[in-house]
Amino acid sequence: MNTLMAAVSLMMLVCVGPAMAWEANYDESEVPEYTLPDPLVLLNGDPVTDAATWINERRPEILRLFEEHVYGKTPTAAVTMRPEVTSVDENALDGKAIRKEVALIVSAENGELQIDLLLYLPKVEGAVPVFLGLNFYGNHTIHPEPGITLSTRWMRDNKDMGVVNHRATEASRGAAAHRWPVEMILERGYGLAVIYCGDIDPDYDDGFQNGAHPLFYAEGQEKPGPGEWGTIGAWAWGLSRAMDYFETEPAIDHAHVAVMGHSRLGKTSLWAGAQDERFALVISNNSGCGGAALSRRAFGETVARINRVFPHWFCDNFNAYNDNESELPVDQHQLIALIAPRPVYVASAEDDRWADPRGEFLAARHADPVYRLLGTEGLPAEQMPEVNQAVAGAIGYHIRTGKHDVTDYDWQQYLDFAKKHFGK
Ligand code: GCU
Repeated sequence: MNTLMAAVSLMMLVCVGPAMAWEANYDESEVPEYTLPDPLVLLNGDPVTDAATWINERRPEILRLFEEHVYGKTPTAAVTMRPEVTSVDENALDGKAIRKEVALIVSAENGELQIDLLLYLPKVEGAVPVFLGLNFYGNHTIHPEPGITLSTRWMRDNKDMGVVNHRATEASRGAAAHRWPVEMILERGYGLAVIYCGDIDPDYDDGFQNGAHPLFYAEGQEKPGPGEWGTIGAWAWGLSRAMDYFETEPAIDHAHVAVMGHSRLGKTSLWAGAQDERFALVISNNSGCGGAALSRRAFGETVARINRVFPHWFCDNFNAYNDNESELPVDQHQLIALIAPRPVYVASAEDDRWADPRGEFLAARHADPVYRLLGTEGLPAEQMPEVNQAVAGAIGYHIRTGKHDVTDYDWQQYLDFAKKHFGK
């Protein structure tokens, strides 16, 4: 290293301090010893031995703990949702599908929010089950079809995704298509509905001045309170508004909606599924810290690191557990348990160590007793399966080869899992 480089790196270390010095742990032997909160013991110490106690007492207790300490409480104030169809193509995908764009106009006390939903439906008789998912860079990224409206919303800059100066360009069309095998999903008889997450809340720390949050502020309120929702909470709320729409759409079998998300949006699908029992099936793809991975393992991304880099995702109270995971009154296996007895699928990727694949498996594993108490087969695997060997009970799990991403392999498992549970 020459002297100039040495001086520059020293300066960087001095300027940014310990934030730069932090390194993720990827060594299994360095995982701290931990005890997980037992999903089947009430806060008063009583064991939960029957379904009624789980449903009426323990489940609400755990849900409140996640609201108060992790994601923040979603406002309960009434909203109305008015769907406005903005485009229909009866001959999309070379005549194989119907493509529809629907603006969901959500009105609350302080104003309105427009969430643009893109829907692909197979051309079949009767109502179809659907997969619902949020995307990172606009609905137009999921397929190159030119009829999809190019989003004009703010988005995080990303040259590879064709985003310039925080706006999508024509180059952005179809840029995320490999993550959304639309034709494959439709051929299996499912519809696909997607929403750009930024329609619900832009993914940056804006002090909660835009997106869904201000719609619910009390008079004089400027940001959510310490136990109120952050951005993941808002995204999950937006997914429920899509569900409101499905309930009014005769082409959709709204009793069979699978909510799917990748990474930060996988954290979101789990939280949406935990809160809104209308989601019949929940999928977490590589959701990691604050998603399916156990926080107490502190393997890869940690609570402290996620709160520092993404201060807007969780509620302020979550900061109390930075480098202090053992004090968390919950861990992520209980988030999965909140979805019981509805089917849930957790997917990991071998090279996605940041998301802690073993921690994702263990959370699924430790949700199993709740699933069994409710009479389902739970997760039929005691040990983490080999790569590319999916296991599927009421809880499904796989770890596939490859990196942090969504692949056709992942989707094939989700489609098989949906078929197993929806019978179609
Ligand atoms: C970052 C973040 C993860 C998140 C991921 C994503 O890597 O640290 O928590 O899951 O982004 O959303 O792609």
